[in-house]
Amino acid sequence: MFKKLAEIIQNKPILGWVLFFAVIGVVFLLGLLAASITERRAEIASIFNNKRIELKGIEPRNELWGKNYPREYNTWAKTAEMDFKSKHLGNMREDVLEKRPEMVVLWAGYAFSQAYESPRGHKHALDDIRNTLRTGAPNDSTKDMQPSTCWTCKSPDVPRLMHEHGIAEFYKTPWSKFGHEVVNPIGCADCHDPLTMNLTITRPGLIEAFERQGKDVKNATPQEMRSLVCAQCHVEYYFKGEGKYLTFPWDKGMTMEDMEKYYDELEYTDWTHAVSKAPMLKTQHPDYEIFLMGPHAKRGLSCADCHMPYKSEGGIKYSDHHIMSPLKNVAGTCQTCHKDSEENLKNYVYEYQDKAIEIRNIIEKDLAKAHIMAKTCWDNGATEAQMKNALQLIRQAQWRWDFVAASHGATFHAPVESQRILAHSLDRTHKALFELQDVLYRLGNVAVVMPDISTKAKAQKYIGLDMDAKNAKKEVFKKETIPAWIKKAKANNRLAEI
Ligand code: HEC
Ligand code: HEC
Ligand code: HEC
Ligand code: HEC
Repeated sequence: MFKKLAEIIQNKPILGWVLFFAVIGVVFLLGLLAASITERRAEIASIFNNKRIELKGIEPRNELWGKNYPREYNTWAKTAEMDFKSKHLGNMREDVLEKRPEMVVLWAGYAFSQAYESPRGHKHALDDIRNTLRTGAPNDSTKDMQPSTCWTCKSPDVPRLMHEHGIAEFYKTPWSKFGHEVVNPIGCADCHDPLTMNLTITRPGLIEAFERQGKDVKNATPQEMRSLVCAQCHVEYYFKGEGKYLTFPWDKGMTMEDMEKYYDELEYTDWTHAVSKAPMLKTQHPDYEIFLMGPHAKRGLSCADCHMPYKSEGGIKYSDHHIMSPLKNVAGTCQTCHKDSEENLKNYVYEYQDKAIEIRNIIEKDLAKAHIMAKTCWDNGATEAQMKNALQLIRQAQWRWDFVAASHGATFHAPVESQRILAHSLDRTHKALFELQDVLYRLGNVAVVMPDISTKAKAQKYIGLDMDAKNAKKEVFKKETIPAWIKKAKANNRLAEI
C-alpha cells in the first residue's frame, strides 16, 4: 500500500503536499483537544489545590474567598438582587404591617409592632438589621435596645468575634458595641471550613442543642449537612437569662408542642402584652423544624436541593449559591425531579399557601380582637383569677399562629403540619373569645368597642407608639452612626478592598 502511495505521489507531487498538510491539521486538532482536556482537569483540580490565595483563620471577607471560588462567589453575590415576586413571596422587601395591621396589635409591647418586613437575600442581612426600628438608634448617650445576640445570624464576623471574645461575652455585649466589627453579610465562613471547603457548623447554638439531645453534630451525614448549615439560623431560638445566651428550645423535641412545653416548664415569656397583659411567646422562624415534618424531608431532601441546585458551566458542576425562592428557577430546581409543567409546579405551591392564608387571615382578625376584649375586661375591673384562663389561651393561640406565619416557607415545606398548627391556633383563639365574653358578662355585660386598626399607622397609634419620634431618631442613626461604623471598619481592614 505504501509503495502504491509513493508511486502516486511521485506522479502527482501536489497530492503529497495535500497529505502533508492534512496530517499536520489532524495533529494540530488532536493537540487542541488534549490541551482542553488537561485544562479542564487542571481547572477542577485547581478549585481545591491551586488556590489563588491562602485563607487564614476565620476569614469573614467574602471577596477574598471569591478569588479562589469565583463561580460560588458570583452566584452568592446575586442574593443582592431584588427582581422577583412569586404569588406571596420573592426577593423584595415588603412592609408586612402595612398589609396586615392586626399584626401591630398582636405584637403590642414588643419591638416587632414598630417594624416588620418580609425577608430578602443574604447579602442584605446587615443593611436590614441596622436599618430596622427594632434595633433602635443607640449612640454613645442612649442605651441599646438589643444585645449582640441579634448579630448572630447576620454575618461571618460573628464566629470571628466569638473566637476573640468568648461566646457568652459576645452575646451579652450591647448590640452597638460591635457595629464597626460586624460588617460582612452572611457568607462563606458561615458554612465552610476554609482549608477543606467542607460544610461546617460555626454557630454554637446548634452544636449545644444537639449535645443536650445526646447527639454530636460531627456525625451528621453530608446530605444532612446540606440542611444543618441552614439550621444554624433558620430555626426557633430564644435569648436565655441575663446573659442573653442564644439557645434552641429543642431539649424535649422539635415539634411545636415539644418547644411550647419547654418554655412553659421554665415559665418563660418573651414579653407581657401591652394591650391584653397576656404572658407572650414570640416564635422566631422554625423553618428547619417544620421542614422536617414535610413530604420532601421525609424523602431525604435537604434545603440545598431546592435552594442551591447544581449548575453546569463549561463542564464544571457547582452549587448555585444564589439562595432565594426556588420558583424563580423551576427548571433548575423542581423539574430536576418532577416531570410536571412549570405552571403546575408553581400552582401546587400557591394552592398550599392560599389555603393556609385563608385560616391565617381569620386568626389574625379574631386574635387581635381577643387582645382588645381582654383590655376591656381589665378596664372594667376584672381580677387576675378571672383573666387567667383567657390569657393562657391567647399565649397558646399566638405561639401557634406565629410558628407558621414567621416561617415563610412553611406552608409549602410541610403543608399538612402547617394547617394542623393553624387549626390549633384558631381553636385557642375562639376558646379565648368565649372565655372573655364570659368575663365581660360577669362584669355587667360590658360591650366591646373595637378601635380603628385598619392601617398600620392607626394600629400603631392605638397601641400608643409615637412613630414620628422613633423614625426621627432612626434617621439620625442612619446618617451618623452607620457611616461612622463603616469608616472604622475600613480603617481596621475589616472590609475587603475591591
Ligand atoms: C448566618 C445565618 C443564616 C444562614 C447560615 C442561612 N440563612 Fe437564610 N437568611 C438569614 C437571614 C438573616 C435572612 C434574611 C435577610 C434579610 O431579609 O435581610 C435569610 C433569608 C433567606 C431566604 C429569603 C431570601 C429572599 O430572597 O427572600 C432564604 C430562601 C434563605 N434565607 C434560605 C437559606 C438556606 C436554604 C440556607 C442554607 C443553605 C440559609 N438560608 C442559611 C440567615 C441565614
Ligand atoms: C448558607 C451556607 C453557605 C454559604 C453562605 C456558602 N456556601 Fe458554599 N456550599 C454550601 C452548600 C450546601 C454546598 C454544597 C455542598 C455539598 O453538596 O456537599 C456548598 C458548596 C460549595 C463548594 C463546593 C463546590 C460546589 O459548588 O458544590 C464551594 C467551592 C463553595 N461552596 C464555595 C463557597 C463560597 C466561595 C462562598 C462565599 C461566597 C460560599 N460557598 C458560601 C453552603 C454555603
Ligand atoms: C422541595 C423544595 C424545597 C426544599 C427542600 C426547601 N425549600 Fe424552602 N422553599 C421552597 C419553596 C417552593 C418556597 C416558596 C417560595 C415562594 O413562594 O416564592 C420556599 C420558601 C422558603 C423560604 C421563604 C423565602 C422568602 O422569599 O421569604 C425560606 C426562608 C426557606 N424556604 C428556607 C428553607 C430551608 C431553611 C430549608 C431546609 C430546612 C428549605 N427551605 C427546604 C422549596 C423548598
Ligand atoms: C431532589 C428531588 C426533588 C426536588 C428538587 C423537588 N421535589 Fe417535590 N418531591 C420529591 C419527592 C421524592 C416527592 C415524594 C413523591 C412521592 O412520594 O410520590 C415529592 C413530592 C412533591 C409534592 C407532593 C407532596 C405531598 O404532599 O405528598 C409536591 C406538590 C412537590 N413535590 C412539589 C415540588 C416543587 C414545587 C418543587 C420545587 C420547588 C419540588 N417539588 C422539588 C422530590 C423532589
